[in-house]
Amino acid sequence: MDVILITAITQDGFIARHANEGVTWSEDLYLFKKQTLGWPVIMGSNTHDCLQTELEGRDIIVIHRNDDPGKVLAGINSEKCFIAGGGKTNARFSSFLTHLYLTPHPVLFGGGIPLFSDTIDEMGLTFEKMIPVNKNKGIFQFQYRTNCKIN
Ligand SMILES: NC(=O)c1ccc[n+]([C@@H]2O[C@H](COP(=O)([O-])OP(=O)(O)OC[C@H]3O[C@@H](n4cnc5c(N)ncnc54)[C@H](OP(=O)(O)O)[C@@H]3O)[C@@H](O)[C@H]2O)c1
Repeated sequence: MDVILITAITQDGFIARHANEGVTWSEDLYLFKKQTLGWPVIMGSNTHDCLQTELEGRDIIVIHRNDDPGKVLAGINSEKCFIAGGGKTNARFSSFLTHLYLTPHPVLFGGGIPLFSDTIDEMGLTFEKMIPVNKNKGIFQFQYRTNCKIN
């Protein structure tokens, strides 16, 4: 199964200014909706609380501190699923990621919630694809494959 981390990120590596902030600054919400439609989407409870739009048409799995990431993934019967933040949840699922879809935005927060809120193992990434989001602003989604494979 492909386990795809999908996120908008600032140029200094943050995904939000603080844990209660919704992602109002991202320009790739339409792409997120298109790519995740029909697939299971895993997110942490803080992220779920910050959602500003309903994500219909996909199975949303909200993660709490006592959930075991390996068991959550083992319970999913799908070709792929998405890890949709936040920083704590991204870190907890980091060792299972097969792909990263990152959309760097032209902004610096100078602090906040990092892509991974905990230390993770070093990961080699192989570039696969770049999708334009807003060419005039230099916003593209970069798709990478990791060297992790999950059955
Ligand atoms: N830029 C983007 O594309 C993007 C994408 C996704 C999210 N975000 C942003 O990321 C932010 C949320 O990120 P986040 O890292 O704060 O939260 P999160 O990963 O969404 O949720 C927090 C997770 O950590 C657990 N947790 C909380 N306190 C803990 C503790 N002391 N020990 C162990 N686990 C604990 C929670 O479990 P419990 O439920 O048991 O507390 C929950 O599973 C929001 O602002 C959201 O908008 C941005």
